[in-house]
Parts: sequence; C-alpha cells; structure tokens
Amino acid sequence: MRLFLDTASIDEIREINRWGVLSGVTTNPSLVAKEGGDPEAVWKEILAEVDGDISLETTELEAGPMYEQGQRLAGMAPNAVVKVPMIPAGLEAGKRLAGEGIRVNVTLVFSAAQAILAAEIGAYCVSPFLGRLDDVGSDGMKLLHDICEIYAVQGYASNVLAASLRHPMHVVESALAGADIATMPYDVFTKLVKHPLTDSGLERFLADWRALHEPPGPDADQQP
Ligand code: G3P
Repeated sequence: MRLFLDTASIDEIREINRWGVLSGVTTNPSLVAKEGGDPEAVWKEILAEVDGDISLETTELEAGPMYEQGQRLAGMAPNAVVKVPMIPAGLEAGKRLAGEGIRVNVTLVFSAAQAILAAEIGAYCVSPFLGRLDDVGSDGMKLLHDICEIYAVQGYASNVLAASLRHPMHVVESALAGADIATMPYDVFTKLVKHPLTDSGLERFLADWRALHEPPGPDADQQP
C-alpha cells in the first residue's frame, strides 16, 4: 500500500518526504485555500518536490469547464493526477480525461455504488472518505472493505485510495482491507512512527552506552 500525505503544506511534505516513504500527495480546495496565496504556485512546488502522484482538484461544476480545467491541471507536470467530484459532471469530465490518458482521481465517494461508477469511467483511483462517514455514524472501514472486494471480484483496474483517515489504525486497517493507497494528514503520518516502547527502549540503550564510556568512579576498584 502506497502512503500519501493529504496536505498542501510544502513544509509538511518536505519533512515526511525525507523519511523516504512518501509516494504521493492529495490536495483539495480546502487544503490549498488554507495555505493562502496563488494555488498554481502551491501546486507547482508540490509537483516538483515529490516523485509520485500529486492529486490536484478541479473546482468547475459543469462537465465542459471541468474537463478543460482538468486538462490544464494535468498539463502542469507528468506526475499530476486530476481530481473530479463524484457527481454526473465529474463522471462525464473524468471519462473524457481518462480517455485521453490523463489519470483521474474520483473524490467525495461515500458508497460502493459510487465506487462502481468511478471504476466504469476508467478512473486511475477512487477516493472513499472513511473518517467523514464515521463522523455521521456510518462505517467507513466497512465501505472500504466492500469496495476492495468489488474491485477484486470484478477485476477493476482502478486503485482504491483510502481517504479522510483520522488515526494510525485507519491506516493499518486500510492495508488489511487491501487498499492500494492510503492518504492521511501530517498529524496521522507522524503518529505512524511513534511507539512508547521504541522511545523507552532507545533511552535505555543510550543510557547503557553512555555508562560504558564514563570514566570509572572513585570506588570502582574496591571489592565489597
Ligand atoms: O482530501 C480528501 C480527504 O482526505 C479529506 O479528509 O480529513 O477533510 O475528512 P478530511
């Protein structure tokens, strides 16, 4: 399962990218707006920083303008992936873009039926939002399992991108479910590496190592 960051912050992306485990970035209009400034400049910096898929989201609501916007976004760099929303216009624009070899990420997916539609237009990936489903009392992980099973049974080529992940177990369970990609905020990414036994174990190792190199104390030669 490939690990993506769900952010438009270049500082967060640079930090995680140094770990050598970052395979891509997903952005959305809210995340880009949070950074302020010119969205194109934000996207360009991310596209240049990460050697992997970078999802850039369309904001047009009609199929024609959405398709044209998608073409422009795809033209920004070879690693650009165009996000379209799961609405009829998104399917229409996405199908045209995918037909031209542009990689499409169908976003705002909340049901298995929607995920079938995304696969049928030849989307590069489908993004079910797990956390937002959990927020309204539905089972986001159950949806992810269903989508992974349907795609396997049907032989759909689209990648399943588990999105709206809120904690490390969402990531672990997404891997178990068979998701191809998991995207998560910086905060969740940093929690993946943390374990209290790692910290206490390292502290003990280093304390023992320091003790070995300390000069012997005044009582060192005295026998009890
Ligand atoms: O970017 C898509 C998705 O991951 C959003 O997540 O945390 O806003 O529900 P969230």
